[in-house]
Amino acid sequence: MSNTNGLTNLESLESIAPLDINTIATPPKPRQQRVKVSRLKIDAGNGRIKFLANGYFDVIRSIISTVTTPRNTLGAFEWEGTQWLIGADADVVNDAESRIEVGLLSGAKINYFPHMVLGAIASHPTFLDGATKVKGEKFCKRLIVDIECLAFARGEELLTKLQTIQRFSKDGMTYEVQWRYFTVHPEGYGAAIVAHRQMKELDQHAKQFHILDIGNGTITLTTYNCFGNKPLAGIPRSGSGGGVLAILEKFSEAANYGDHETIYLDQLRKALERSIVIEDNGSKRYQAIVAGSRNDVGASLQVGLRDWKDKHPATRKVLKEVDEALLDGEYVFCCGGGFEIPPIEDFIRAQFPHSDRLIVLPTPGTISLRALEEIKNG
Ligand SMILES: Nc1ncnc2c1ncn2[C@@H]1O[C@H](COP(=O)(O)OP(=O)(O)OP(=O)(O)O)[C@@H](O)[C@H]1O
Ligand SMILES: [Mg+2]
Repeated sequence: MSNTNGLTNLESLESIAPLDINTIATPPKPRQQRVKVSRLKIDAGNGRIKFLANGYFDVIRSIISTVTTPRNTLGAFEWEGTQWLIGADADVVNDAESRIEVGLLSGAKINYFPHMVLGAIASHPTFLDGATKVKGEKFCKRLIVDIECLAFARGEELLTKLQTIQRFSKDGMTYEVQWRYFTVHPEGYGAAIVAHRQMKELDQHAKQFHILDIGNGTITLTTYNCFGNKPLAGIPRSGSGGGVLAILEKFSEAANYGDHETIYLDQLRKALERSIVIEDNGSKRYQAIVAGSRNDVGASLQVGLRDWKDKHPATRKVLKEVDEALLDGEYVFCCGGGFEIPPIEDFIRAQFPHSDRLIVLPTPGTISLRALEEIKNG
């Protein structure tokens, strides 16, 4: 294993085995046979699995169900005698024997990493076209995969879990898998690549910048050294939790205060995800509409965000460090799905008045994976 430039690169043992030698008589020199490798870039997050392969990018929810009936749908596969379904359909399927929402179960982001990888593969329209036939086998193919992923966790731990998958089936075909190269970047690394490029224009002499990531489970601040050609990550600052789930919890407390009909968490999450900022005669307010009742609980969202800032330990700690960095004249770039929600972005900006060095990156929810496209393979 090597660890350079803030990324960890692991080779699985099989990958160091020599490739088959082509024994054709001419030309006389033995030639190495080309192996077909499928490449997957994946950010298997607490709330959403973002993945990219063959120029196709998609996002699915981090929900994992076991089902009784095999399916031919996207996100469905069979592994170790169990039928799995991953993504939004896993939340609504009516024959689910068990269902896991990754963000709600401690350690699930690591323990269910293999399921999320297979879920991404099974949700990709062409990924399995990269499998090659096994001689004499009609219903078995071979798949060699290189993975590049974003993770807070240790790469060895994720690879060990992944290697428990030796074969899986989808739509009547069994795939024998070889996990070849496995590269782990720090979470938010794609955002750091874009920020690093911007830093070269904003302040050529800056030594470091910061990435603030509001994900589903956590709020994280990571410092990057920006002297060289690539951003080099330091140790991320976060605590437990503090992401959109924590905001949702405080939002729910505020919205369900008093004597009225209960508003369920899934209703509030949808209201939060489509919430907006409304400017009225020079003053701002948040609008968050609950489907069904059409009640606007934007005022409760405002209260919930304030409680999240004041009472959540990880949020308090991280936002204080953001303030330190800004006051020191350093740049803080924001990413993570939290910044796709306008009231969250507005609330964060409001904590740091007159800070033009707090920059929300474009498409903050997906930039961390998508910008990896710019890194050359190797
Ligand atoms: N385009 C969007 N519109 C509205 N809300 C969004 C959008 N994208 C993401 N979100 C919200 O932001 C949350 C966090 O998204 P993100 O993809 O950053 O989480 P994650 O990477 O899965 O979590 P973690 O980083 O904690 O593992 C989502 O759970 C969702 O509620
Ligand atoms: Mg994330």
